[in-house]
Amino acid sequence: MRPRLLLGVAAATAGAALWWRKNPSACPYGQRFWVEAPHPIITRERLREVLRPEPGERLLEIGVGTGYYSLEMAEWVGPDGTLELFDLQQEFLDHTLRAAAERDLTNLVPTQGDATALPYEDASVDAVVLTAVLGEIPDSLAALREIRRVLKPAGRLVVGELFGDPHFTTRASLERLGADAGLRLEQRSGNWFGYFGRLVPA
Ligand SMILES: C[S@@+](CC[C@H](N)C(=O)[O-])C[C@H]1O[C@@H](n2cnc3c(N)ncnc32)[C@H](O)[C@@H]1O
Repeated sequence: MRPRLLLGVAAATAGAALWWRKNPSACPYGQRFWVEAPHPIITRERLREVLRPEPGERLLEIGVGTGYYSLEMAEWVGPDGTLELFDLQQEFLDHTLRAAAERDLTNLVPTQGDATALPYEDASVDAVVLTAVLGEIPDSLAALREIRRVLKPAGRLVVGELFGDPHFTTRASLERLGADAGLRLEQRSGNWFGYFGRLVPA
């Protein structure tokens, strides 16, 4: 590729990334190949270490995508536990439920909606998981406040972020937003390129 063409492509890519950052919006189902790719650093094993799920718990995953973490999460809580699946787009919920059926998992409950208005009771969820989602929500503080509302007093929120995602939320932003929503960052696992943050009610 000629240098000027290469520069043009790089500038266009950078411009598109900047536009995405300034205009939060949900990843369309048609672009699901992004979320089906391996998630380095924010692996399922690391999520399990940070989340520390227990059999019988009620977990809530917001922004499930194609269920990269969902099936394992449903297995971690076992048949006596529940994984609430919540997503803005019904297609992602349907996709994940099809995959769960193939593994004979029956403890997943799908609900379509917006994270800024969660249809769950106050203090009714043991843990919430949000991976590569927070930056897609235009009013992310409102979503965190809703999460804080539905979390049990001893509950926890785990947020995963991966560098390269145009909606990447830095650790500092997460800590600040969390504090505004009444959540305290108590643990971070990962590195500069990706991390899971564990927040608890302050
Ligand atoms: C980039 S995908 C991440 C999927 C998955 N968590 C993963 O890491 O593979 C973002 C997901 O969040 C959902 N989402 C975006 N905005 C949302 C909102 N306001 N409320 C609920 N879900 C939302 C999208 O529909 C999509 O399924």
